[in-house]
Amino acid sequence: MSLLTLNYITMVYNQGKPNAVKALSDVSLTIGAGEMVAVVGASGSGKSTLLHILGGLLRPTSGTYIAGDQTVSAHSPGQMARFRNEKIGFVLQDFGLLEERTVLENVSLPMLFSPKPMGNYADAVKSKLTLLDMEPYLNKRVSQLSGGQKQRVAVARALIMDPLVILADEPTGALDSANAIQLFELFRSLCNDGHTLVVATHDMDLAAQCDRVIRLADGRVSPAA
Ligand SMILES: Nc1ncnc2c1ncn2[C@@H]1O[C@H](COP(=O)(O)OP(=O)(O)OP(=O)(O)O)[C@@H](O)[C@H]1O
Ligand SMILES: [Mg+2]
Repeated sequence: MSLLTLNYITMVYNQGKPNAVKALSDVSLTIGAGEMVAVVGASGSGKSTLLHILGGLLRPTSGTYIAGDQTVSAHSPGQMARFRNEKIGFVLQDFGLLEERTVLENVSLPMLFSPKPMGNYADAVKSKLTLLDMEPYLNKRVSQLSGGQKQRVAVARALIMDPLVILADEPTGALDSANAIQLFELFRSLCNDGHTLVVATHDMDLAAQCDRVIRLADGRVSPAA
């Protein structure tokens, strides 16, 4: 049973203008629940664009995107914002954390933007941090953490809304190789627990640890080598 389905997705930036760029062409793919999928390809091949469409940050120029029971490509901007908040956990290269705020404040942030009643914030945050061995750092400022610890905080924040899928765009770009390997081990354990993860990476060794590799070339999915 597929969790995410893209049908003939095309993405043109600045459509109709002289600076139009076709970033994705007729991309069709499905991702199943619990899969750990890598997206690889040269710089400019469309990896981030694909993740942004999966995450509801960008509306495709044409094609259909279905996530769970939602046709995201038909959503209004308000529906897209709610989809992002409730269904997507993002992990970014530069962590995307508020450096001068505590771990608790950072991880609970998505809950503040949700109209859903969320219960006790601190308990929810603690349970995610415990999962990632970061509970002792609850009240530390992010600026006092190492890079590997910061990325684990970002993963905790990505998990806090119990999303449909975790999207990670070059999440090891700011990590040394030991921390990069640890992050992928963490991703693997999350997928073994039923989470679904799509990760864009340049690192072929890390990509090889995923269940499946989607290779992009000039905005198209290229057949497996
Ligand atoms: N906001 C934008 N406006 C116009 N063109 C864009 C925009 N974002 C990306 N592009 C173009 O779309 C194409 C795909 O870019 P994208 O960022 O998806 O590639 P990528 O595979 O993530 O590259 P990298 O490995 O460097 O991160 C590139 O030609 C890029 O210049
Ligand atoms: Mg990119």
